[in-house]
Amino acid sequence: MKILITGGAGYIGSHTLIELSNAGYKFVVFDNLSNSSKKSIKRVEKIIKTPIFFEEGDVRDKKALNKVFKKYKIDSVIHFAGLKSVSESVQNPLEYYDNNIVGTLKLLEVMKKNNCKKLVFSSSATVYNEVDAQNYTPLKENFPTGVTTNPYGRTKYFIEEILKDLCLSDLKFKIAILRYFNPVGAHESGTIGEDPNGIPNNLMPYISQTAVGKREFLSVFGGDYLTHDGTGVRDYIHVVDLANAHVKALNYLNSKNKQTANPLIVNIGTGVGYSVIDMIKAFEKVSGKKVPYKIVQRRLGDISTCYSDSSYAKEVLNWESKKTIDDMCADSWKWQSNNPNGYSKNK
Ligand code: NAD
Ligand code: UD1
Repeated sequence: MKILITGGAGYIGSHTLIELSNAGYKFVVFDNLSNSSKKSIKRVEKIIKTPIFFEEGDVRDKKALNKVFKKYKIDSVIHFAGLKSVSESVQNPLEYYDNNIVGTLKLLEVMKKNNCKKLVFSSSATVYNEVDAQNYTPLKENFPTGVTTNPYGRTKYFIEEILKDLCLSDLKFKIAILRYFNPVGAHESGTIGEDPNGIPNNLMPYISQTAVGKREFLSVFGGDYLTHDGTGVRDYIHVVDLANAHVKALNYLNSKNKQTANPLIVNIGTGVGYSVIDMIKAFEKVSGKKVPYKIVQRRLGDISTCYSDSSYAKEVLNWESKKTIDDMCADSWKWQSNNPNGYSKNK
């Protein structure tokens, strides 16, 4: 009996493989490598000192998925596979709806056909209504969702609704939806990490590429928010802590206890917000490098403050974050400085 890890070659997936292996779980990775490299799998193999079953394929390909379910007798799924760039999703919404929503539907159909009914799904804090995120942080799981600002966010919201309907229609399905806040950092070995294509959109890869000299300076989007230093505040979560939340979610789905809610919906964050300037200062301290920055106009669609109430994760999953802002920055730096071009030699 194995767990299928869709998108397991990606940033969060690759880190989760290590924690699953440490917890004794057996798994198979299914990934079309559209936003990742097989090198991440090779490096995870080195860390866990065990070969990984890897199948290259697209979750929209039911035939290929079905084969994998039969071959490995899959009994549960962690579904990371999806596209995640907000700006790309605005330019190409159909691709995002197809990849994320159709991909999830096909996966669910194959799961149902193979009587595999346990699923952990990667959702995002982006599903919360913008006005609530802006004005009512910390965000709690029962806050309203769906008033999202871009197609990427809508794919996550729609999938959450699909999963709710599925659980109502078939009581055997046991589903955990994890709403991630802002994943950053890397494995402490510095051999795997986040490897964005082109110019990074997210803060941490931009900071680390600036520190390593690939970017001249960081543009800080807005210095006039109502925060302690005027820059945007977010709930950054170390990717290894996040990876561990998946192990806890699987333990929960596998336990004989009655599920508290189905689907179970849980925020995965630290519950603490840091500003852009806080992140720059922490990064400079642990790396010993300067991160030149300029305060520029606010980024369209950004909000001032967003962080989680993470108490429910502790209550139902017995999970809480352990790593500090210094760990997040130190591990990002280790990955970036050891691999200035990510997994590719000539980026
Ligand atoms: P990632 O791009 O590094 O990993 C996603 C993986 O899925 C990649 O390896 C990619 O090749 C694969 N993939 C994409 N479409 C596929 C398809 N149709 N079939 C098979 N494989 C496919 O992204 P990540 O940061 O590891 O994110 C993982 C999941 O978590 C995504 O669903 C993302 O939306 C969600 N999420 C990420 C963040 C974040 O900030 N990183 C925040 C909230 C939620
Ligand atoms: C973004 C996405 C969100 C997604 C999340 C995690 C947008 C509008 N939202 O959110 O849907 O779930 O990433 O992947 O893209 N910043 C700078 N300079 C930069 C980059 C960022 O100042 O070059 C600031 C931002 O204004 C923000 C903070 O850093 O205050 C974090 O930004 P980012 O990493 O992009 O995450 P989110 O904005 O939270």
